[in-house]
Amino acid sequence: MKLIKYLVFIVFFVSFGLIYSTSCTFDNEEDLLKNFICDTNDIVYNDLTYIFTDICSVCHKEGDTERLGIEMDSYLSVKASMNTGLVLQAINHTGPYKMPFQQAKLSDCDIDKIEAWVNADMPEN
Ligand code: HEC
Repeated sequence: MKLIKYLVFIVFFVSFGLIYSTSCTFDNEEDLLKNFICDTNDIVYNDLTYIFTDICSVCHKEGDTERLGIEMDSYLSVKASMNTGLVLQAINHTGPYKMPFQQAKLSDCDIDKIEAWVNADMPEN
């Protein structure tokens, strides 16, 4: 009987040790992303050219009639494109076209920034 008691004791402590040693937490990507704050305050046109100019205008250039007239290479052309109402649905993948064309969707933060800019009446600077 004594032996069984000892065994129960040992099993208890070994499992406790195992649970304890594996319950250590690590910062995984998801937790880090949750804590990432997307700053959508006071966005002006120049804050977004890394999207409009560097990504969109590679295809959507001025005078280009092949891409449904959407031009994204200057402040005025981006504004006019936004006013078609097609851009937000294209980047949110809620319309018939998913932009950027055949590339990864923009990050949630990039989309939030563009929407905040549009809601603030698209200030140039
Ligand atoms: C690799 C080239 C390419 C890139 C990069 C690209 N587009 Fe396009 N875009 C196209 C093409 C091609 C079409 C026309 C789609 C078709 O006719 O099949 C189009 C169409 C559109 C349309 C019209 C959608 C509609 O509903 O009529 C919008 C708005 C648009 N793009 C916005 C953007 C924005 C904003 C970006 C940047 C985030 C972007 N595009 C990046 C190639 C591109």
